[in-house]
Amino acid sequence: MTATDAAREMADLQDFSADPYTTMDRLYRANGAISVLGAGPMRFRVTLGAEASAFILANSDLFSWEAAFTALAPLTGPSALLVNDGDRHRRLRRQVTPALTARRVEHHLGTVTRHIDAATASWAAGDVIDIYPPLRRAMRLATLESLFGAAAADRSEGLDDWLHDIHRAIDADVVGGSIERGSGSPVWRRALLARSSVHRWVVDEIARRQECGEPGNDVLGVLLRGTDGTRLTDDEITDQLVSLLEAGAETTAAQLSWMLFCTLRDRPLWTRLRDAVTRRPAELDHAVSETMRLYPATAVISRKVATGFTLHGAEFAPGDLLLFSPFHTHRLAAIWPDPERFDPSRWDPDADRYRKPAPHEFLPFGVGPHRCIGAAFATMAVKAAFVAVARRVDAELEHTDAPPAGLIGMHPRDGITVRVTAIR
Ligand code: HEM
Repeated sequence: MTATDAAREMADLQDFSADPYTTMDRLYRANGAISVLGAGPMRFRVTLGAEASAFILANSDLFSWEAAFTALAPLTGPSALLVNDGDRHRRLRRQVTPALTARRVEHHLGTVTRHIDAATASWAAGDVIDIYPPLRRAMRLATLESLFGAAAADRSEGLDDWLHDIHRAIDADVVGGSIERGSGSPVWRRALLARSSVHRWVVDEIARRQECGEPGNDVLGVLLRGTDGTRLTDDEITDQLVSLLEAGAETTAAQLSWMLFCTLRDRPLWTRLRDAVTRRPAELDHAVSETMRLYPATAVISRKVATGFTLHGAEFAPGDLLLFSPFHTHRLAAIWPDPERFDPSRWDPDADRYRKPAPHEFLPFGVGPHRCIGAAFATMAVKAAFVAVARRVDAELEHTDAPPAGLIGMHPRDGITVRVTAIR
C-alpha cells in the first residue's frame, strides 16, 4: 500500500465518521462494492451494493457475532443474543422468540397507544414543538411496559437516561470496536455505570415478580414461564431483558419519527394516511415499509469474519471487520426506481410496477440467524404510535429537511419541529 492510499483511507474514515450516509454513496461510485477505511486496528471494509449484501446474508456461517460484539458484552451482558453464536445462541433464541411473535405483540398495541396519547395530550393548536423527544420517551415507556408490565413502568425513574448513555456508547462502537480501545473514555465509563444501574433495576423487577408468584403476560412473564419444559437462568433472563430494552426502545422511536417526517412532508399523502388510519389499513403498512426503506433505523450492520473468503477480488481473513448497509442498499437505483422518493405505493402488490424485493434488497431488520427478534414488536409499535398521533394531531413541518445522525439508531439529528394546526 502506498502512502497516498493510506492517506486516502484515513480521509475516507474521517468522512465516514462525519457523514456516513453520503460518504457510502461516494465510496460506492468511486470504488464499487468494496472500500477500505481507516488504519491499523481501526481499519475495516465497507461492502456496498446488492451483490455484496446478498453474499453476506447468504453466508452467515462465515461470520462470528461473538467476536464482532465481544467488546459490547460488558454493556449487553454475556448471555445477550447479539454476543453469542452457534448452539448457545440457538438455545437462548428459542426461549425469547415466543415472547415476541406477531400474535403476542398485538397484546401490547394498547400500551403503545396509551403512552403516545399521554405524550400528545398537552399539545394544542398553534404550538411549535420538537415532537421527537416526547415521542421517544413515550416509545421507551411503551417498550418498558411491554417487557415488564405497567407497575414497573411507574417505577422507571432514571431508566431513560441510563438507556440513553448505553445507546450512545453502542452507536459509537459500530465502527471497529472502538470501545475496546477507548475503554477509559468518558462515554464508555458513563455507559458502564448506566448498565450496572439498569442491571440492578431489572434484577429487582424479576425478584418482585417471583415474590408475587404470578409470572404475568408480558415478556418477563413469558421468559419466566419458559418453553419446551425448560427456562433460562435468572442471569440469562436479566441479560435478555437488558438487551431487549437497549435494542428496542431507541430504534423504534427513531423509526416512528422518520415516518412522521416523511408523511408530514407530503401534505396530500399525510391527509390520505390520516384517512387511511381507519379505512385503508394496507396503505399504512405500505407507509411503514417505505419509511423503513428510506430511513432504516439500523443504517449499517457490522460483521466479523470467522472463516476467510474472497469477495469481489478482495481477501477477507478471520478477524477482519466489515460493514454493510441497509441504508445504502435501500437507495440503490438498480433496485428501487426513483430511490430518493418517499412513495408508499411502490409496496402495493396490486400495482403494475410492484416487485417483491429479495431479502438482501430490503433488510431493515437484517437477515439470517441474528435477524431482529423484535421485528414484529417494532412494526406493531411504529404503526400503532403513528395511528395514535395521526388520529389526534394535524401539523405542518417547520423544516422540510431532517439530516440523520447515528448508525444503529439513526434518528433526525435536529429532531422534528412541527407547528400543530389542529387537535381532534
Ligand atoms: C425499527 C426498529 C428496529 C430495527 C430497525 C432493528 C434492527 C435490527 C437489526 C438490523 C438487527 C440484526 C443485527 C445483525 O444481523 O447483526 C437486530 C437485532 C436485534 N434486535 Fe432489533 N431492531 C428494531 C427493533 C427492535 C426491538 C423493538 C427489539 C426488542 C423488543 C429488538 C431486539 C433485537 C435483538 C435482541 C437483536 C439481536 C438478535 C440476535 O442476535 O439474535 N429490536 N435489530
